[in-house]
Amino acid sequence: MTRLFPRLTLGLGTLAASAPMAFAQVNPTADSVREDALMQALQSGQAVTGRITIPDPNAAVLIDPGGRDWAITHSGTLFWITIVAILGMLALLVVFYLVRGRIRIDSGFSGRKILRFTMLERFAHWLLAFSFIILALTGLNLILGRALLLPLIGEGAFGTLSAWGKIAHNYLAWPFMLALVMVFLLWVVHNIPGRLDWIWLKQAGGLFHKGVHPPAKKFNAGQKLIFWSVIIGGALLSWSGIMLLFPGEVGSAGEWQFYQVMHAVVAAVMIAVVLAHIYIGSVGMEGAFDAMGNGEVDENWAREHHSLWVEERMSGKTTPKEERGPTATPAE
Ligand code: HEM
Repeated sequence: MTRLFPRLTLGLGTLAASAPMAFAQVNPTADSVREDALMQALQSGQAVTGRITIPDPNAAVLIDPGGRDWAITHSGTLFWITIVAILGMLALLVVFYLVRGRIRIDSGFSGRKILRFTMLERFAHWLLAFSFIILALTGLNLILGRALLLPLIGEGAFGTLSAWGKIAHNYLAWPFMLALVMVFLLWVVHNIPGRLDWIWLKQAGGLFHKGVHPPAKKFNAGQKLIFWSVIIGGALLSWSGIMLLFPGEVGSAGEWQFYQVMHAVVAAVMIAVVLAHIYIGSVGMEGAFDAMGNGEVDENWAREHHSLWVEERMSGKTTPKEERGPTATPAE
């Protein structure tokens, strides 16, 4: 971005100007630099640059007012976008819980089990989940930590935590990307939108009405939305994250700031989406966690939430190799 602007030269204590001006150049060998000239340059929104002999023009910038604007965006706008996304979703989930309560299996547990996810599917899911949760916490520390955590734990502990957090963030990005590719390859075929999804969405998946269970295959429309949010959001996070990991690849401070905003905003939205997912996959819905816990779900749960998938499984067309019997196996 610095290359886009013509320069204002500040040499030997004098301000030699050329219009339009956006840069002030400091002569480092000058006996003194006139402070008022520097202040003037800064107040009019110009960057102050020195003279350098290396070919990287960014390295010549001493003070960049754009950096101050950026700091305000970082600690203001991004801070509030993150807070609103997370607290907003938590508030919605609390209201949903108070209104609807835990979604029970209407017909009760049957005692018969069906294998829902193979070991490979569960491995990919938990690798994705574990890496995402640590990435989210360490990333949130960069946006919220200084305001919320530092006053609580003090500078020393905050410094140590942030340093370790940065290392964890940089290295866990790789298993996250691996898991993202695995999850995509394993489940994309079950997440192609179809006519049934529209019916499911019109009935809001029966989430708000006891006893209403629109038909669904392996994944219902709500889960497809989660899947595509995770895949698209994860891909955007990966792309912007790689750019931030290798700032040498990013041309200018402006581009670097663009990737940071993209990274932070996508992360905030994705954290909110994943919070809703974690709620439904654990306390929010009876019998759901087993699918990713030991891989087996109760047949009645499956019939209520994924009726067409159960039919397919019972017909033996889609029985995974891991399944112990040709169809459902009784619980102990
Ligand atoms: C402690 C946290 C988590 C729990 C308890 C959990 C639970 C579950 C469960 C039970 C399922 C299967 C639902 C079914 O049988 O239909 C599932 C699926 C899935 N999970 Fe998670 N999960 C967690 C974290 C995550 C995270 C952090 C991500 C992504 C970053 C994620 C992404 C997915 C995706 C894409 C699916 C398939 C689509 C869907 O069912 O919504 N999960 N999860």
